[in-house]
Amino acid sequence: MLKGYYMFIKFYSRKSFTNIMLSFTLIIAVFCNPQFGFSETPPTDQQERVYQKAVVAADHPLASAAGIAILKAGGNVVDAAVATSFALSVLRPASCGLGGGGFMVIWDERQQKSIVIDYRERAPAAATPDMYAKLPSTDEQRKLASRQGPLAVAVPGTVAGLCYAVKEYGTLDLKTVIQPAILMARKGVPINDHMRSIQNTMLRRIKNGTLNPKRFQILFDEYLNQGKPWKENDRFFSPQLKSLELIAEKGWAGFYEGPVADAMVKACGKQHGGILTLEDLMKTQPVIRKPLTTNFNGYTILTMPPPSSGGIAIIESFNMIKSLEKELLGYSFGKLQIHSPKQIHLLTEVMKHAYADRAEYLGDSDFVPVPIQRLTNQNYAKQLASRINVEQTKPLKDYGRYIPPQDAGTSHFSVMDAAGNAVACTETINLTFGSKVVIPEYGIVMNNEMDDFAAISGKPNAFGLIQSKANEIEPGKKPLSSMSPTIVTKDGKAVFSAGASGGPRIISSTLQVLLNMIVYGLPPEQAVEFPRIHHQWMPNDLVLESKLFNQNGSKLKKFGHRIKESSGIAATQAVSRQSDGLRGQSDSRKHGAAAGY
Ligand code: DON
Repeated sequence: MLKGYYMFIKFYSRKSFTNIMLSFTLIIAVFCNPQFGFSETPPTDQQERVYQKAVVAADHPLASAAGIAILKAGGNVVDAAVATSFALSVLRPASCGLGGGGFMVIWDERQQKSIVIDYRERAPAAATPDMYAKLPSTDEQRKLASRQGPLAVAVPGTVAGLCYAVKEYGTLDLKTVIQPAILMARKGVPINDHMRSIQNTMLRRIKNGTLNPKRFQILFDEYLNQGKPWKENDRFFSPQLKSLELIAEKGWAGFYEGPVADAMVKACGKQHGGILTLEDLMKTQPVIRKPLTTNFNGYTILTMPPPSSGGIAIIESFNMIKSLEKELLGYSFGKLQIHSPKQIHLLTEVMKHAYADRAEYLGDSDFVPVPIQRLTNQNYAKQLASRINVEQTKPLKDYGRYIPPQDAGTSHFSVMDAAGNAVACTETINLTFGSKVVIPEYGIVMNNEMDDFAAISGKPNAFGLIQSKANEIEPGKKPLSSMSPTIVTKDGKAVFSAGASGGPRIISSTLQVLLNMIVYGLPPEQAVEFPRIHHQWMPNDLVLESKLFNQNGSKLKKFGHRIKESSGIAATQAVSRQSDGLRGQSDSRKHGAAAGY
């Protein structure tokens, strides 16, 4: 069967779109065969799974399975990543997709090379720093303008990024890797708990008047089941089928030119109070960047540079931990019992410094000077670590002058193969269902990434972030992101790949999952599922998931922390290589499941 499938993929990689259509029945037969990891029944237990060839951990079981099907068909980790991402457009439309952007970090074992693809959205050419502040409306309407409706939409980058990734670094063609997504859109996908909870949230917003279903009629009709609560055996049919087919046929041009581009400009341009133009779309290409790196315990950490803030914060954090070990503790951080009050306190202090710097210094480094070298330097981390008191937290001003904020519209996945190649990829449309604008006929959910800028100077964004001038709006500039896809290598092979969704909690959660694997030697099953903490410097709250809140809340108050309980902090996906094989875990907080073979 596998051989037959492989030959089939080879066949239809070379053939025309019409042939793909003719082969439709065969594809369904193959993809839906449980042997290919594409069963619609996700594994429900948390039993440990070890794979020998490859693993994909995405936040929907069928997205992980799509990546694995492509690997089994002879694709490499990048082909698998692109297939997973397109599948997520269909499966997680509230989190990511064609109308959004993302970051992909790749480790190529054969060439001993890392590649970073930045396909984050950009501000349209007509954007200005005061475009929201000067709107002739109420404060509340001004605030909403960067979150809901056409004016909230930044130029989407995902399709450009994925087309580039598969062309430059994949081994199969776009038509092939997009097939699982096309099949899912055509065949429909089963509704799962996460989709039900998203629908609940949105229907509650409609009820309490914060979302107007008439204004966002297509979202209501196509994605919210016209307000009828999803039932047990319902299936969701993505309205993006035509878009996916056009991308399969024409690649980049199927999205950024022609009828899809015209429809996006119609819905998000002048005609409806937005500023998106055809020129903005035509200019969209990914940016290739160099990863930020540091060494820790014999591992090399490769993570995302600006316009991500997460990479810098993660490097700063690892560097501070190195200094704490040397200067303050005199022993390795791993000797501190995991989740003991002292361990949580020190980690919180590290986070407070890293997030304070995020607020003060970070923005799109193609537009504003970002002191990357200084912030990621070990000597700088040493200075910060020397200000950490092992017994007490300090007032906010001791960490920094500016500010930072929860989870909604983002998705992270990790891929790894037996040879030591890996991908870490985080994608977003920002808030749940992004701007809520859905493109008629093509079903594309448009992002509201403009709210990741300091949209109105001095006012917090949707995540409570008040940010510096470094992140003010400029035409063509990319809004600062917390997305932190990270790969860790050892002896030239990828050993861990991780990342998260959850706004600013992405950074602290990715850091903890990495520490759990690197320092505490935990397999991803535990590294991902263990309870988490979060501190983002401002507001001055140490947030603990319920288990830790109950265990340690009162003890941590003695260190001077203001404590808050959270039912769930971010959603993380991680994979690892151990001596007995590959493991992966998709966060049960978002009902994902990893797949492998
Ligand atoms: O790029 C960012 O930092 C945000 N747009 C991420 C938003 C997010 O993670 C929402 N939740 N899952």
